[in-house]
Amino acid sequence: MKRLQRGLSGRTAVVTGGAQGIGAAVVERLCLEGCHVVVFDKSADHGRALREAWRDNGYTVHLSVGDVTDPAAVQAAVADTPPDWPRPTLLVNLAAGFVFKGIEATPADWQAALEPTIVGLSLVTREFVAGLPERNADAAIVNMASISAHIAQEGYLTYNTSKAAVLGFTRCMAQELAPRGVRVNSVSPGTVWNANNERYHREALGLDRAAAEAAPEHGGKFLLNRFADPAEVAAPIVFLLSSEASFITGTDLRVDGGYLAV
Ligand SMILES: NC(=O)c1ccc[n+]([C@@H]2O[C@H](COP(=O)([O-])OP(=O)(O)OC[C@H]3O[C@@H](n4cnc5c(N)ncnc54)[C@H](O)[C@@H]3O)[C@@H](O)[C@H]2O)c1
Repeated sequence: MKRLQRGLSGRTAVVTGGAQGIGAAVVERLCLEGCHVVVFDKSADHGRALREAWRDNGYTVHLSVGDVTDPAAVQAAVADTPPDWPRPTLLVNLAAGFVFKGIEATPADWQAALEPTIVGLSLVTREFVAGLPERNADAAIVNMASISAHIAQEGYLTYNTSKAAVLGFTRCMAQELAPRGVRVNSVSPGTVWNANNERYHREALGLDRAAAEAAPEHGGKFLLNRFADPAEVAAPIVFLLSSEASFITGTDLRVDGGYLAV
């Protein structure tokens, strides 16, 4: 019997920021697709916990602990993969600077916002591309933007500027890498219910998930009247990596429950 193939099985994927949150859901999805997965994350604790969990499930996740802004760590993460794994041809760039400031932001704030999200993104992408063939690489990259890349939000100047830059980076990389057979896209999620968002809504707003989703100024801003689970963002990311997206490059996929539609 014939089976559908998504062109992912047996390939090596690098996921920056893969140790928790959306990244952990991407790692799960890639493991289930039969990929070899390198998690490149600065959190050794979360990375080890994820690696152990997947080992218990029968999967080998390779952990590379380091910062995406550190060129030596980036080189080690992309080049020093297990010797029996193929060279990485799939890349998911999720690591970011979470700095939420307005015009009061200092140069140090801007650096903290832009270094991981843009400089780190460019370092990892450069290293990944350096290991690819000059032609017919059959490779794919997905970068993490956000609804914040598309709109203004009070007090979010640093974050929204950094995410808007991801859209520009994605388009330019798609143009530069198309002749080599590399597709480059981004995704723009709305609020994804992870540990950080759970803590923020509880501590800053006194809301649990159900109450936050019921609030017109929070969940009510989404046409679907709720937030996303990490797996609902991981699935479209993996779709963009797969051969099912073979004619998609240079674009941004909104995974936002309809937030940007109105
Ligand atoms: N959670 C949301 O609501 C949401 C919405 C839209 C976009 N995003 C984007 O999705 C991505 C992942 O967010 P998340 O909510 O899953 O975050 P998270 O905090 O749950 O996970 C982020 C991971 O990235 C790692 N990381 C951070 N900076 C790093 C660096 N410099 N080098 C290496 N690793 C680093 C952290 O250690 C962590 O494991 C980010 O780009 C974020 O901006 C999140």
